[in-house]
Amino acid sequence: MNKSILITGANGGLGKDTARQLALIKETERIYLACRNETKAMAAKADLEKTTGRSIFEIVMMDVSNCDSVRKAAATLTQPVDALVMNAGGMGGKTPFEMTQDGVTQMFGTNLLGHVVLLDELMKAEKLKKVALYAGSEAARGIKSMGMKQPNLKTYSVEEFSSIIDGSYFDGKKDPMEAYGLVKYMAAMWMSAQVAKNSDLRFITMSPGATSGTAVMDDMSGIQRIMFKYIMMPIVMPLSGMVHKLETGAKRFVDGIEDDSKVNGGFYASKSNKPTGPVANQIAFLRDFDNVEYQNSVDEAIHRFIK
Ligand SMILES: NC(=O)c1ccc[n+]([C@@H]2O[C@H](COP(=O)([O-])OP(=O)(O)OC[C@H]3O[C@@H](n4cnc5c(N)ncnc54)[C@H](OP(=O)(O)O)[C@@H]3O)[C@@H](O)[C@H]2O)c1
Repeated sequence: MNKSILITGANGGLGKDTARQLALIKETERIYLACRNETKAMAAKADLEKTTGRSIFEIVMMDVSNCDSVRKAAATLTQPVDALVMNAGGMGGKTPFEMTQDGVTQMFGTNLLGHVVLLDELMKAEKLKKVALYAGSEAARGIKSMGMKQPNLKTYSVEEFSSIIDGSYFDGKKDPMEAYGLVKYMAAMWMSAQVAKNSDLRFITMSPGATSGTAVMDDMSGIQRIMFKYIMMPIVMPLSGMVHKLETGAKRFVDGIEDDSKVNGGFYASKSNKPTGPVANQIAFLRDFDNVEYQNSVDEAIHRFIK
């Protein structure tokens, strides 16, 4: 059982419901809500206290798209945590291909670079004791029925992965959905690469599956927003069992940190072609996730951007 857990992006959606479910486990003693917006963080804390009847929540101010903000936040933690849930992320805001001050796209900064810095800082300071979970997505291996392709890179080299991070890979054609899938693909690879670096911790990438009741579609623009937010998620996908409730998605994160039978470094997501239902190790879909050379190249490429 994890007594203390830090969750990024915990003021809404899956992060907040994960906090709620964990607070209902009596062994949980402290939950850190890592958020970038103080007003939203305070409202979430008050609501979580009310719905769970527990006063175990503490706010940590952190913008995961800014490495300095992440380092400052990590330094404020006075006690180690048992579990880290790296949940903040989504479609990279309104301008996913614009650069952050760290020289990466907003898409990459929001979903991954800040989490890499956070995990590195916590491991360096021995402030993480048991398990790190990253919020992955079936988009990392593509979902045919949703028009998402499997990643198909040319060289799978450090240079090519670096080009995804700084956005040059997308020169000419900037499709946020493709960029999102590739960031989540690289995240799963990066998590697998951590196993060889730290034998005391478990590293799990877990997709929540297609989950309704969150704001993840809000930043999409144009036709993709209309397609996903107003047609696919609320109408088409529920009819074919391709979307589940918020509690179900967040439960995957809770199970991911509480159940230690999963393969260390594994990427778990929906077992079938639908982004719902039971989960399974995704190497069954894509052998890339088992490729140590790719994993190390991803890890090296990301660390080129960390000063
Ligand atoms: N919902 C799905 O169907 C689905 C499927 C697969 C994977 N996922 C993944 O699950 C995770 C949670 O998504 P969600 O559906 O719960 O979306 P959401 O409702 O939009 O929640 C995202 C959370 O991340 C926070 N966040 C975003 N950028 C941040 C930053 N730079 N610094 C700190 N916090 C930041 C948001 O805070 P603000 O309120 O301040 O924006 C919010 O609390 C994401 O990583 C997403 O990619 C979701």
